[in-house]
Amino acid sequence: MKSPFIVFKGGKIATPLGVRRADVLVDSKSGRILRISSHILSKGARAINCHSLILLPGAIDPHVHMRDPEDTSKESFSTGTASALSGGVTTIIDMPCYRNPATTTIPAYNKKRAIARKKCRCDYQLRFGASERNQKEAARSNSPSLKVFLADTGSELSCSYAAAARHFAAFPKEKPICVHAEDSARINARKLRFVEHEKVRDKISAQIACEKALKFAARAGRRRIHMCHLTTAKEVDMCRRHQNATYEINPAHLHLCIDDLRDLGFLGKVNPPLRDRTEMKRLWRKVGDDTIMASDHAPHLPRQKKSGAPGFPGVGTLLPLMLQAVHSRKLTLPRLARITSYNAARAFSLSGKGEIAEGKDADIVLVDMARKWRISAKNRLSKCGWTPFEGAEIYGKIEGVYLRGRLAYDGKKVLSRAGNGKEVK
Ligand code: DOR
Ligand code: ZN
Ligand code: ZN
Repeated sequence: MKSPFIVFKGGKIATPLGVRRADVLVDSKSGRILRISSHILSKGARAINCHSLILLPGAIDPHVHMRDPEDTSKESFSTGTASALSGGVTTIIDMPCYRNPATTTIPAYNKKRAIARKKCRCDYQLRFGASERNQKEAARSNSPSLKVFLADTGSELSCSYAAAARHFAAFPKEKPICVHAEDSARINARKLRFVEHEKVRDKISAQIACEKALKFAARAGRRRIHMCHLTTAKEVDMCRRHQNATYEINPAHLHLCIDDLRDLGFLGKVNPPLRDRTEMKRLWRKVGDDTIMASDHAPHLPRQKKSGAPGFPGVGTLLPLMLQAVHSRKLTLPRLARITSYNAARAFSLSGKGEIAEGKDADIVLVDMARKWRISAKNRLSKCGWTPFEGAEIYGKIEGVYLRGRLAYDGKKVLSRAGNGKEVK
């Protein structure tokens, strides 16, 4: 019989505090990291030679739309979590569905949980959706976090500022409320003047809504608030001034700007939109030890993009793009470990996650920083079948992904089966 023990030998372990060369002993039965030490005897255990590799904590993507059960023709928990694993993401937090049914009621939330339990290949958590009137139900839902859309979604999953303020007061204060902040009034007014998506939903629309959300949250006392997909430096500054706020940045907003719309065409539409090159550079300079990276994985089919669906698939490119940023010296490995794993685990209280440390879950990503590879929709495995980064050549090849001590992705194929994922408490 195969030993349940694995020793990762001689790799460089990236932690928020530094990089250290050590052996890591893992028990694939309990799924935990047992010991980290400079030399661990591998007798009786399986040894994996990691001398030329970096060991990263499994990435956490706290903002994905896997579309199950809303529209599984474009993605499902099974295909979306396969894509996650191909990109070193071992835990996702899935956003509420907009419709069919919108995850704004307790029965719909529980139904979705049952589907996730059967289909997820990596670990997961689900987020409840706020509507104009479901404050009491949201508060009773047991969901570890809540999503508030301060923007028109064309479904019941949207809130006015007044409804959002009532959610801020009603939802348990220690649990984060995640906010998509764009000001509907300003957007609607600009629709009359502009046709270009990025002009209609401009930077100021995002900044106004961000400021208001933070103000309402402050009025609700020591309420945890998390600002989704910030696109401007000013919003990051606002969050940094607020005591109980965390925030996320989508790697797409660090790597693409309105100049790229020439090549991307209709595929380049996203909410909030791509910004100008100067703003993109400013946003990059804001990336710091408090940043949380999140992909806002929105896997629409090309024909749906053609008819105006906003969003990019991104769960499979989040870590690869940030590894390339390490290669080009925009980021250090300790900061990478922080912003792709540690900070999200803390912000969303994901127990066992976020770090390669004794006692934690053995979610480990093996990376060869010297190896170059090419991003393509084919190797990113999302059912939507495209990526805005098609053909990009990048450094930092993911050679293996371990989920709770078991090989879940071998660098080519996903080995973790649907149903292997566990809900994170
Ligand atoms: O572009 C976007 N697409 N932004 C969002 O906030 C939602 C997402 C989606 O779910 O399609
Ligand atoms: Zn959003
Ligand atoms: Zn989203």
